[in-house]
Amino acid sequence: MFDQLGEWTRTDTCGALRASDIGREVTLLGWVHRVRDLGALVFLDVRDRYGLTQIVVQEGHAFLDTAKHLRAEFVVAVRGVVRARAPEALNPRMATGEVEVAVAELRVLNEAAVPPFQISDEAALASDDLRLRYRYLDLRRPKLQANLGLRHRVTMAVRRYFDEQGFWEIETPVLGKSTPEGARDYLVPSRVHPGEYYALPQSPQIFKQLLMIAGTDRYFQIVKCFRDEDLRADRQPEFTQVDVEMSFARPQLVFDLIEPLMQQVFRVIGREIPTPFRRMRYAEAMARYGSDKPDLRCGLEIQDLSAAFAETTFTPFRDALAAGGAVRGFVVPGGAKYSRKQLDTLTEQARQAGASGLVWVRQAEDGVKSPALKGAGEAALRLALERAGAAAQDLLLLAAGAADQASKVLGQLRLAVARGEGLLKPDTFAFTWVTDFPMFEWDEDEKRFSAMHHPFTSPVPEDVARVESDPGSVRAQAYDLVLNGSEIGGGSIRIHDASVQARVFKAIGLTDEEAKHRFGFFLQALSYGTPPHGGIALGLDRIVAILAGESSIREVIAFPKTAAAVDQMTGAPTEVDDRQLRELHLKK
Ligand code: AMO
Repeated sequence: MFDQLGEWTRTDTCGALRASDIGREVTLLGWVHRVRDLGALVFLDVRDRYGLTQIVVQEGHAFLDTAKHLRAEFVVAVRGVVRARAPEALNPRMATGEVEVAVAELRVLNEAAVPPFQISDEAALASDDLRLRYRYLDLRRPKLQANLGLRHRVTMAVRRYFDEQGFWEIETPVLGKSTPEGARDYLVPSRVHPGEYYALPQSPQIFKQLLMIAGTDRYFQIVKCFRDEDLRADRQPEFTQVDVEMSFARPQLVFDLIEPLMQQVFRVIGREIPTPFRRMRYAEAMARYGSDKPDLRCGLEIQDLSAAFAETTFTPFRDALAAGGAVRGFVVPGGAKYSRKQLDTLTEQARQAGASGLVWVRQAEDGVKSPALKGAGEAALRLALERAGAAAQDLLLLAAGAADQASKVLGQLRLAVARGEGLLKPDTFAFTWVTDFPMFEWDEDEKRFSAMHHPFTSPVPEDVARVESDPGSVRAQAYDLVLNGSEIGGGSIRIHDASVQARVFKAIGLTDEEAKHRFGFFLQALSYGTPPHGGIALGLDRIVAILAGESSIREVIAFPKTAAAVDQMTGAPTEVDDRQLRELHLKK
């Protein structure tokens, strides 16, 4: 049996006491974070969501023996008087570091089994596996508590903002019909309709458009979305969107809505974000950064240096140029000092990114140095250094091939270089809108075009005529919001004309029959007076992770799944018993 809490009420949290509280009698409730038994007296750090407070049990005190038997994670109630710490015991790193509580009475409300890892030791972090298995203990760590608190404050800021702007938060169904966002669906078998399935929403895309048709004008929702796709540090099978739609939208109106929202969100961590955000066309992002989500915290811009090699006989460059490709490169400031080993590593990284090779070039006192010196000739390499604006202490990295491919390789290399040079500072925030995406991309596996964003995205009006004749050239009224190389949002102006929607379905290979079967209800809805409309969805997990300085969104999700889509704690997904399977008509 443990002590009862009885009539005790918490007077203060474990993060609250300051010098101004000295002399007060207080009651604190929390977990034993650390016990230091000095023989004659015992120090306890007691922890709750708000912080830590040092508790002292003095020599000869009736509760000294109780205190000596405490272990980490026991739940205690402490009554005592706040007093100043001895000068040598002051702890400026702790919010409550000026004071301690001298115990009058100590109650042990519950014991704890020995935890599988030490919650008090932030440095010796347990394996991911163990942390997720005991997530409720992992979440006791102050860092994760802070992340959950941050996430709460961000969602509150988002709700306040949209409310002020006249948006209604409207819930959309979780059991529904597949909405294509490019991933696989999670399916839920129907018990009452044998052989039929609901799909969990990959996004509320169709419903938010139906809400515009319904005249709700301005909608938002903080909503779970489900996608069965390969997982990475910034992807979870279920994740949260801040989903937004408005009638009579233009891209500029969406930007004007979202930029001040991001300002509000960043004020949560005390940062002022300058607006308007930069804008970049998709083609420019691909050419200059080799990515549709360029990280703009570091320069390292890719340049086209083909002209320097117009006359070259150097086979890799000549072949690339002859095939209509390019020689591209970027300058690493101060990179002339790179060791052979570093250069070899970069070359290996380029190969892994799909390049046939990488050429580095630098100046030295006795001329140009490069593994391609013989092949490409000093004059051309010198010209390339000059055109690229490389100084004596710099290094130029060159890749040749199809233009996009060369940029993609260099795009990965520039990030590797930037990481190595410490240029990607987590407390620098570089936003950009990426615009003018192609409407369709060619899917080599399926030998057909697919929608680059989703098939409800409106083509640029002047390009609509080419949806059938030249889909590859059609531009979309789509935009992504990119922050520090992470795609934190994506949206578009939608198709509001049923006939254009039908043509786009056709262009991505849906027969009339299939389109009718899957989206007939939606095509019909579009025909009843649909206003022009558009919107965006922001990745809440990604935004909070960046605000928290975390490299994985798992650190800002209370109960995330592993990269294999498993919940380590509950064991989900699990087998279910035969009776349940029979009920669902999945087994005879
Ligand atoms: P999109 O597919 O771009 O657009 O998704 C919007 C944003 O959601 C985030 N996101 C994810 N975050 C974590 N884990 C995932 N698996 C994951 N997938 C996406 C990203 C992304 O930018 N219906 C459209 C929006 C619209 O057009 O309005 C949509 O869902 O930050």
